[in-house]
Amino acid sequence: MLLKIAKTTALAALTVCTLNAADFNAQAEKDRLALIDYFEAKFDNPEKNRGTFFPYSTDDELKNNIISGLKHEDFAIGNYAFSKNGKVSYEEINEFPPYEEFIENGEKLYEQKFANGNSLATCFPDPVEAGSKYPYFDEERKEVMTLTVAINECRTDNGEKKWNTKKGNMAHVQAFFVSSAKEEEKVVNTKIESADAAAAYERGKEYYYSQKGYLKLNCAECHVQGAALRVRNESLSQLLGQTTHFPVYRLKWGAASSKNDGLGTLERRMSGCVKDQGQVPPKAEDKEMRELLFFMSYMSNGLKIDGPDIRK
Ligand code: HEC
Repeated sequence: MLLKIAKTTALAALTVCTLNAADFNAQAEKDRLALIDYFEAKFDNPEKNRGTFFPYSTDDELKNNIISGLKHEDFAIGNYAFSKNGKVSYEEINEFPPYEEFIENGEKLYEQKFANGNSLATCFPDPVEAGSKYPYFDEERKEVMTLTVAINECRTDNGEKKWNTKKGNMAHVQAFFVSSAKEEEKVVNTKIESADAAAAYERGKEYYYSQKGYLKLNCAECHVQGAALRVRNESLSQLLGQTTHFPVYRLKWGAASSKNDGLGTLERRMSGCVKDQGQVPPKAEDKEMRELLFFMSYMSNGLKIDGPDIRK
């Protein structure tokens, strides 16, 4: 009898535990599904939905450039998803991807020995896992771990200097990891399994929706409500799918100087966008940057990992 009671209690405790674990991502999941609904509705029929979603777009843009009937998985390719013109040049460039050599160099760097005989391969034995599990919430350290932070930690733990978090070797190794995950058809799967992880998600979300520079804009005004509108000669991409394809090769970064080979990390892109709003961007190691990436990555759950890729 006693044993039976003990068993039942243990079972009840277990059930409560699993229920809670599932609950921690309830808000995030609600947000993610709402975002998918929003973008699918927005791009269902842009001409017809002009009043609701595209009050500032021209007739020509709506008739001749914006693609209609987009579904969840289509959004993974950023602003090329909805732009007829953009998609054509995107497909042309991707026939001869300019980032192949960086993937190869990334693999070399991955195997290269540190002074102490270890290598990145010691810290990241499985490149596919390295390319697909970040960012994640580390329950012991109680903080978000990003791939950029993890790579530099591996280096400093082994007595090596940190790499620049935005470009060069850092971007090359990430290209190797992410392309390995892409080959295995990995999908974004950011998990929220504790109250601390849920709180980190909420802070990241808050940053996305409330940041104010001198322009008094937040990320969502451009990348949710503003998605598909034009800013100068660029169409604004949508939050959904914004983190799936990094590092990216940008024409703009490639041409800038001989120190730039065109490939950059997600943190580099994010800093650029924050700076454009007249704000000082958080550093790659900062909590704010990590939590912002955690939030954005959760929004892309279910989409294919698709890096490296190209952008204008
Ligand atoms: C004034 C409008 C504006 C605001 C506000 C803004 N961005 Fe951007 N963002 C752009 C433009 C323009 C681009 C280049 C075209 C594109 O891909 O959207 C861009 C590109 C990006 C990209 C690259 C997308 C890709 O597919 O490669 C990311 C990531 C990004 N922004 C993140 C952010 C974050 C995070 C914030 C808030 C901290 C933010 N942006 C705020 C205008 C904005």
